[in-house]
Amino acid sequence: MNEKINILQQKQEQALAGGGRARIEAQHKKGKLTARERLHFLLDEGSFQEIGMLVTHRSADFGMEKEKYPGDGVVTGYGTVNGRLIYVYSQDFTVFGGSLSETHAEKICKIMDLALKNGAPIIGLNDSGGARIQEGVVSLGGYADIFYRNTLASGVVPQLSAIMGPCAGGAVYSPAITDFILMVENTSYMFVTGPNVVKTVTHEVVTSEELGGATTHATKSGVTHFACANEIAAIQHIKQLLSYMPQNCEDKAPALPYEPANEQRPALNDIMPENASQPYDMREVITEVIDEGSFLEVHKDFAENIIVGFARLAGRSIGIVANQPAFLAGVLDIHSSTKGARFIRFCDSFNIPLLIFEDVPGFLPGTDQEWNAIITNGAKLLYAFCEATVPRVTVITRKAYGGAYDVMNSKHIGADMNFAWPSAEIAVMGAKGAAEIIFKREISEAEDKEAKWQEKEQLYSQIFANPYRAAERGFIDEVIEPADTRAKLINAFKMLENKVVNNPRKKHGNIPL
Ligand code: COA
Repeated sequence: MNEKINILQQKQEQALAGGGRARIEAQHKKGKLTARERLHFLLDEGSFQEIGMLVTHRSADFGMEKEKYPGDGVVTGYGTVNGRLIYVYSQDFTVFGGSLSETHAEKICKIMDLALKNGAPIIGLNDSGGARIQEGVVSLGGYADIFYRNTLASGVVPQLSAIMGPCAGGAVYSPAITDFILMVENTSYMFVTGPNVVKTVTHEVVTSEELGGATTHATKSGVTHFACANEIAAIQHIKQLLSYMPQNCEDKAPALPYEPANEQRPALNDIMPENASQPYDMREVITEVIDEGSFLEVHKDFAENIIVGFARLAGRSIGIVANQPAFLAGVLDIHSSTKGARFIRFCDSFNIPLLIFEDVPGFLPGTDQEWNAIITNGAKLLYAFCEATVPRVTVITRKAYGGAYDVMNSKHIGADMNFAWPSAEIAVMGAKGAAEIIFKREISEAEDKEAKWQEKEQLYSQIFANPYRAAERGFIDEVIEPADTRAKLINAFKMLENKVVNNPRKKHGNIPL
C-alpha cells in the first residue's frame, strides 16, 4: 500500500509544481502570483478542495503527447470565503500559458455544473494565452461550452471574473457574460484582437495596456467594473463583493447585526446648495444615509454622472443607483443608462433591494447621443427599473425633470416608496426653458424681453419647482426633512422586507439591446 500511496503523492507533487520552477519565477518577475497562490489568498484557510488535479490533455499533435502536466493549466475546485461555499477555477499561466485545451475547459465546466446544481457563486481567476493553439477547434468548442454555462448560470448564481493576466480573443466572452469583472492594473489586459492585428487592420499603433488594460476598461469602455492596484487588492474586492450577495437567486444576502440608534443625520439639511444649478457631491448624501463605511462603489470611474454600488442599511445589503450632480449635472446619457441598467438587473436577479437618489436634469442632448442610440440605451434603464421586483425606494433630492423623472424609479413604474426633500423640483423641464416655450408670444411681444422671461420663469418655478404638486397626486409618498432620510429609509425597507410581486408569465423579456 505504501508504494501505491507514494505514487499518488508523486502525482500530486507533480501537479502542485505546475509548469516548473523557472516558469513560476518568470510569473513572479512579472509581479503576478501563481494560480495556487491566488487561491490561497482567496479562500478560507484549509477550505480548498481540488477537483481534477490529475487531468491531462488528450492532444497528440505537434509532439504534445510527450508534454503533459497534471491539471492541464487550470486549478479547479470549491472552498469557502468567510465561511460561505464558492466554486472556483484559477488558470495556471505556467502550464502552456494557461491556454484553454479541451480538458482544461471540461474542468471548468465541471465546477460550473456543480455550482449551478448546488446554488453557489462561481469565481474565475483568468490568466491565459487563449485557445490552446495545438488543439485547434476542440479548444474553441471548449470555450463555447463555458459561454453556454455562463449564460445558463446568469441570474441563478453570482459569477465573478478576475482578470490577472492576458485575456484575448474568444476568451474575453466568458468574463463579459459574468456579473462582475475585476482587472489588475499593469499586469492584465482584455481585447478581442491585440495590438499587432489592430496595426495591420486599422494602422493604429497602440500598446496592450492602452488598448485593453485595467485603466482603459475602467474608464473608457466600462468593460471592467473594478481596476485594482494589484492582485491582492483584486482578491480583497472579490471577498467584499461576495459579502453583499446571496448564494443564489432563491437566497437572501446575509445581513450584519444592527442595533437601532439615533438615525437622525442633521448634516443632510445643509448639503443642498442655495442655487439649484450649483453642483454637490451625491456621494456625501450616500455616505450620510448608509451604515458607516459600507459603500462599495461599482464602475467608479466610468459614466460618473451616475453612481452605482452596494451598501448596507441597518445591516442589510442594498444596491444604490444615484444621479451625480457633480458630474455633467447628473444628466442621463448612453453610458450612464447602460451602467445603471446592468447594476439594477444584477440586484433584481439576486434579491438585493434598490435605493435610488435622484437629481437629474434630463437626458443629454446632441447628435453624438442621438446617433449612438440614446433612445435604445435610455430605454434599457427604464426597462430595468420597470421589470425589477425587489423593494424599490426613491429619494428625490432636487431635480426630477421630464422623461428622466419617469425613468428614475418613479412611482408609476413600480417603485414602492417615493420620498422627496423640500428642495425637490418635479417638472417637465427647468423653469427657464419651460417659460421660453409656453410664454413665447408674451416674451417676444414684451418691451423688456429679458424681464418678462424672468417673470415667467419665476411663475413656472413657483408652481412646479417643488415637490408638492407630485405629493398632492400621491406620486410622492412623503416629503421629508433631509435629516430624517436614514430613519425613513430604514423603516421603508423593513416594511418592504417580504414584498412579493409576480410579473406576467413569459419566456423572457426582450430588453432593448
Ligand atoms: N496555446 C498554447 N500555448 C500557449 C498559448 C496558446 N494559446 N499562449 C501561450 N502559450 C505558451 C507559450 O508557448 C509559452 O510556452 P513555454 O513556457 O513552453 O515557452 C508559454 O505559454 C508562455 O507564453 P509566452 O509567449 O512566453 O508568454 P508572454 O507573457 O511573453 O506572452 C501571450 C503571453 C498570451 C501574449 C502570448 O503567449 C500569446 O500571444 N499567445 C497566443 C495568444 C493567442 O493568439 N491565442 C489564441 C487565440 S484565442
